[in-house]
Amino acid sequence: MPMQPWFPDAKLGVFIHYGIYAVAGAAESWSFYTGEMTHEQYMKQLDGFTASRYDPDAWAELFARVGAKYAVLTSRHHDGVALWDTDHRNLDVLRNTPASRDLVAGFVDALRARGLKVGLYYSHSDWNHPDYASERHPGPHIVPPNGYSHAEPGKEDPQAWARYLAYRDGQVRELVERFHPDVLWFDGEWERTEEQWRMRDLADLIHKGSPDTILNGRMLSYGDYATPEQGAPLQAPEGPWELCLTINDSWSFRPQDRDFKSVRQLVRYFTETIGMGGNLLLGAGPREDGTIPEEQIERLEGLGAWIARHSDAVYGTVAGLPPGHHYGPSTLSADRRTLYLVCFDAPRESVSVRGLRNSVRRATVLGTGTELGHHVTGGLDAVPGVTWIDAPEAADLDDEATVLAIELDGELDLYRGAGRN
Ligand code: GLC
Repeated sequence: MPMQPWFPDAKLGVFIHYGIYAVAGAAESWSFYTGEMTHEQYMKQLDGFTASRYDPDAWAELFARVGAKYAVLTSRHHDGVALWDTDHRNLDVLRNTPASRDLVAGFVDALRARGLKVGLYYSHSDWNHPDYASERHPGPHIVPPNGYSHAEPGKEDPQAWARYLAYRDGQVRELVERFHPDVLWFDGEWERTEEQWRMRDLADLIHKGSPDTILNGRMLSYGDYATPEQGAPLQAPEGPWELCLTINDSWSFRPQDRDFKSVRQLVRYFTETIGMGGNLLLGAGPREDGTIPEEQIERLEGLGAWIARHSDAVYGTVAGLPPGHHYGPSTLSADRRTLYLVCFDAPRESVSVRGLRNSVRRATVLGTGTELGHHVTGGLDAVPGVTWIDAPEAADLDDEATVLAIELDGELDLYRGAGRN
């Protein structure tokens, strides 16, 4: 499946973990797996899941306002509770919770109305399904999490596994046929092999119903892009990629988790990611009623405001300089003629670019437009000198990160060698 061009251009997405786990503020699905609560306590949350203030238009308005181009919603997490009207097993929020409506349908419509791309998260694994054997073995405290299968993964009764796959395929077919998602964001693949999951058949099923749907890396060899999670990569993964990252330490709504990243830290993550050609998929965990907590909104808005001030350095760009040329991330315009240098700290005297073969036509501070002086020192034969850009004045510095726009005399041309004797 060829990558859709909108994806590497999107830069920012929002990853919504919304489900019954928000009722108790428990970890999504994991809380009954790790023993944070019993399976019974976990499932009791069904009764408290109201979605009483669920307003997907307000979500979409927020996502668009902060500069996100797509969002991904947990249509079904490892707990097996579907947010849409599913005919397969019927463990959904329509039949089993006071929310009693299809939350995916509203999400899809609201995003599309604002021109945002629609991503649906779906877990291959379902720790709540009687035919699904999970890795967790009976222990002194938790006896097996779902109370069902005691088999080891891959060693269950083949008929049970066939039933399980029919259930998963049936649900995925529903998502594909009803919603034609732009992204299907799979998860929970780690308990089985690609063959056991029948990934090829699943990919065929999806593309038959929705040829343009792109798949994340947790479809294993059928994935269209890499999905590093939480840890920022130091080298760009091969091909298109997306870093998924929480705003605090949790994907789901956990009021006791106060470990929020600051807006400055989010700007760093974001620029480092797009500077290596990736997208940032930033997590948000709504409360059970569907409202997104203020602390998360503030940080999304802070990042969004920075993006709005620097949109030329974000959209329509590709990965910038490899490490070593500039001390910070950078991006490059699609025509490869303008470099955007990100400076997190206040530069002293000058900002240098090493190994630049081009001459600089013009250097400005992005956003304020102030022009900066520049000159080159050194260099010999094929080895270019150092390009020095005058440091901006304090008034031109951005609170989170200042961006210098460097217009080149042609397409970026870099020297990558070891110098000259
Ligand atoms: C992990 C977790 C899951 C979370 C996901 C997001 O795979 O199992 O809870 O939804 O990461 O990337």
